[in-house]
Amino acid sequence: MNVVLEGKGLTKIYQRGRSEVVYALQDVDIKVYEAEMILLYGPSGSGKSTLLNLLSGLDNPSEGEVHFMGKDMTDLNEKELTEFRRDNVGFVFQSWELIDNLSALENVEVPMYPSKMDSAAMRTDAIQILRRLDLFDREHHYPSEMSGGEQQRVAIARALIKNPKVIFADEPTGNLDEDTGNMIMRLLKTVCRRGTSVIIATHNEALREYADRIIRLNNGKRG
Ligand SMILES: Nc1ncnc2c1ncn2[C@@H]1O[C@H](COP(=O)(O)OP(=O)(O)OP(=O)(O)O)[C@@H](O)[C@H]1O
Ligand SMILES: [Mg+2]
Repeated sequence: MNVVLEGKGLTKIYQRGRSEVVYALQDVDIKVYEAEMILLYGPSGSGKSTLLNLLSGLDNPSEGEVHFMGKDMTDLNEKELTEFRRDNVGFVFQSWELIDNLSALENVEVPMYPSKMDSAAMRTDAIQILRRLDLFDREHHYPSEMSGGEQQRVAIARALIKNPKVIFADEPTGNLDEDTGNMIMRLLKTVCRRGTSVIIATHNEALREYADRIIRLNNGKRG
């Protein structure tokens, strides 16, 4: 199995106030293989979001390295990191951060720009993904006109649209009823089977049935 992403000795230290130092993450090693679904479990404050941020290049580690397809990302400058994220990574955040003045369809299309694809083809892809997520007649709704669960599904569509190598999801089912949550997990699983690695941070033990592997964090360390 190919390793897509590897974190080595990842440590993240935050300064709180003048003197207090918080070890959000301490010397964590992690390998992510192609097409696997990893569940990252741990209590609140254990470092799950911190680890996702470091692995996805959203934030830099205080110590340690992140390798993506064998390439050391700590060597990349800000512009290269932005390109890396655009081309390889999909995000589903705890707060899903849709753009208020864009419709559902336009929100899904955002990560495709700039693109060599023509806009009609992009639109067809975006509509198809929204439909797979049971959002048949919501394409032209704005975030304020959708329920929390519908907004979450738009955010997931936005993460899927570019067929990324890795998807990072922070509590992707957090605000959803059980049926909708299961639908999202099945969809992520399908995407995974097609070759995308999916890393999900969650408290929800019920999601374990979907996981290929479970990684536990406790107090910023693997446990
Ligand atoms: N910007 C920051 N400044 C200072 N401390 C931070 C910062 N971000 C996170 N922390 C601390 O780092 C630790 C890990 O936080 P993190 O957000 O990774 O936890 P988590 O496992 O995602 O929790 P939750 O399940 O509540 O989302 C916590 O103790 C948190 O207070
Ligand atoms: Mg978190």
